[in-house]
Amino acid sequence: MINQLTLIIGANSGIAKAIALQVQEHKDTGLLLINREQSLATDIDHKPNNQNIAGQINTITVKDYQSSSIEQAVEQIAAYTQAPITRIFICNGILHSDDIKPEKRLEDFDAESFTQVMASNALTPMLWIKKLVPTLSTKSPCKIIVFSARVGSISENRLGGWYSYRASKAALNMMIKTAAIELARRNKNIKLIAFHPGTTDTPLSKPFQNNVPANKLFTCEFVAKQLLSIVDECELDQSASFLDWQGESINW
Ligand SMILES: NC(=O)c1ccc[n+]([C@@H]2O[C@H](COP(=O)([O-])OP(=O)(O)OC[C@H]3O[C@@H](n4cnc5c(N)ncnc54)[C@H](OP(=O)(O)O)[C@@H]3O)[C@@H](O)[C@H]2O)c1
Repeated sequence: MINQLTLIIGANSGIAKAIALQVQEHKDTGLLLINREQSLATDIDHKPNNQNIAGQINTITVKDYQSSSIEQAVEQIAAYTQAPITRIFICNGILHSDDIKPEKRLEDFDAESFTQVMASNALTPMLWIKKLVPTLSTKSPCKIIVFSARVGSISENRLGGWYSYRASKAALNMMIKTAAIELARRNKNIKLIAFHPGTTDTPLSKPFQNNVPANKLFTCEFVAKQLLSIVDECELDQSASFLDWQGESINW
């Protein structure tokens, strides 16, 4: 019998898939995966678009993460909410692509790349939060986790470089902090967490893994397990937290 729902947005992410597989083991928890159509989270035993939540896992496929697509998806989510949404993981984020490389120096900075990184890493999560928050009950707890990164910490920036990625995660963190202030008044049952997974073995970190010691390169399974226990333990304290994979606070 399902008595709570977990939403995973950006479910093609390596870490997202590991979270889904671990949540799937809890038969009292419904799972709703949201991702773009290009590659479904195939490792997971999901049901295709628009099926009712007779089973435990359902998927909503979005065309893209434009505001209108997010709005439509949130309308569809309403059809799955017989049980309260208790956890929302927003996993979206890019560091590089065929066209984008993280900057090593000022001359590498490029307006188009910056705009794309900002859109994926800061704007997309914010649009989801904007559309989802008004649909959440004020009576039951919900923890919203956005995937940030330690390099988004302004006060801990000692290495430099990666202008766009750093700026996008710093912008995301600021919006999470700001939203938590508003939500402390509007819905005390929502907790916002900006999460740093540590360097994790996914396509995002692949080109940068050479200099990472083996014991500092985490598997998605390990990070998902850590995150799920951090989320379980964290309190509804009407403030935003910026936490790493050990549950330790990071300076904003
Ligand atoms: N891996 C690491 O070492 C590491 C370290 C620090 C922080 N993080 C953060 O952790 C999160 C998950 O990363 P991952 O390592 O699991 O990466 P990944 O496997 O490469 O997953 C990429 C994620 O970004 C989404 N995405 C791709 N292009 C997008 C676009 N144009 N607009 C919006 N979303 C887009 C994907 O959504 P779909 O599901 O729709 O494809 C997917 O959720 C990211 O926010 C990343 O910045 C990762």
